[in-house]
Amino acid sequence: MSRTHHRSRTLLLALATVLAVSGGTAVALTGGTGAEAAAARVDNPYAGAKGYVNPEWKAKADAEPGGSRISSQPTGVWLDRIAAIQGANGKMGLRAHLDTALRQGAGVIQLVIYNLPGRDCAALASNGELGPTEIDRYKTEYIDPIARILADSKYANLRIVTTVEIDSLPNLVTNTGGRPTATPECDVMKANGNYVKGVGYALNKLGAVPNVYNYVDAGHHGWIGWDDNFAASAQIFREAATAEGSTVDKVHGFITNTANYSALKEENFKIGDSVNGRSVRESKWVDWNRYTDELSFAQAFRNQLVSTGFRSDIGMLIDTSRNGWGGTARPTGPGPTTDVNTYVEGGRYDRRIHIGNWCNQSGAGLGERPKAAPAAGIDAYVWMKPPGESDGASKEIPNDEGKGFDRMCDPTYGGNARNGYNKPGALPDAPLSGHWFSAQFQELMRNAHPKL
Ligand code: BGC
Repeated sequence: MSRTHHRSRTLLLALATVLAVSGGTAVALTGGTGAEAAAARVDNPYAGAKGYVNPEWKAKADAEPGGSRISSQPTGVWLDRIAAIQGANGKMGLRAHLDTALRQGAGVIQLVIYNLPGRDCAALASNGELGPTEIDRYKTEYIDPIARILADSKYANLRIVTTVEIDSLPNLVTNTGGRPTATPECDVMKANGNYVKGVGYALNKLGAVPNVYNYVDAGHHGWIGWDDNFAASAQIFREAATAEGSTVDKVHGFITNTANYSALKEENFKIGDSVNGRSVRESKWVDWNRYTDELSFAQAFRNQLVSTGFRSDIGMLIDTSRNGWGGTARPTGPGPTTDVNTYVEGGRYDRRIHIGNWCNQSGAGLGERPKAAPAAGIDAYVWMKPPGESDGASKEIPNDEGKGFDRMCDPTYGGNARNGYNKPGALPDAPLSGHWFSAQFQELMRNAHPKL
């Protein structure tokens, strides 16, 4: 995978430097020394680069018995509200993270851009601070200040991965327009266009910084792996990537499975298998999906994105922070071939009650450790969701973060259309989304696969 368009950018920069110097005054074009002039983007920002370790997450992990085994792994820094840019409630702000990354000698830092107007229209646990119409505040009070900080020349040699707006665009495909899974909130966000505009604006502004690498959120296989959603999602991603002045060249790649639990590889059954003449696609678990796991989905979706107009050298990221499904309950081989259901049920690693379950999943474990270029088309396995941080509270907890109570986080709930009216499979006694959940962290370590 080559990135020829970036080579010409290097040339232009070099030329500009020469011109500035030959003009008589040595102007530092990027505000720093010549050595700090922005490097051209590389094909894979993770390749050969040490990942930034968030000291705040590390401290929480280190405070847990056994936590030091993983506390030096790089995890995502979530900018989940305007105040997070400066540092909300005494936490490190964006500059503090970037400065610490420089001190660590890190080569790559991973940010999550996560504050769209009307955030998370299909779930309440991660609702945000901006109302559905507050697109102007999103632009001027959130994206613009972030872009200004990232453009500071002192960070020019750091590769800055920005994963853009988790869950937003897939919701516009699957949870709108009279589908049984639709929510009124997602219909509003589709009609007012503010997810598409917000993502386009973010990609354009952030992507204007030469050392920023934009990766757009692409849900996971248990969300857009069905025929009805697959091509339609790629279409809407393209629409967003070309909105508000952005172009597909501002998209370096896509991330799947962020904060989700879909298994990386289901080795005990394949999509092409059949039992007694019935395809595994007919099983209750697979339910006509085209994919059984994240890796096969991410690779196939990459091709779909390219055929929809994205660059042919885009790379995928897969969040493997919590999709390990190890521990004593992990199947050691395929299920019995009595019928497709016994075969799939007995063999699947992903032990969720339903693949639409997403909140603090009981039985989950840490997945593959962060790793660059692990498979064809995949730039990295990453831990974008910091293990140990809750997906949502299991009961109503008043807060000033805009977070609602989603019953998908309450283990006693009976479910909704988006999880086939199943139990949500969530751990009990969970705190608000983003807050530390010690019991979950411990279970994730216990059920890690590969083992710790
Ligand atoms: C929460 C954010 C949090 C992030 C990472 C999201 O579900 O809404 O507040 O920063 O998870 O834990």
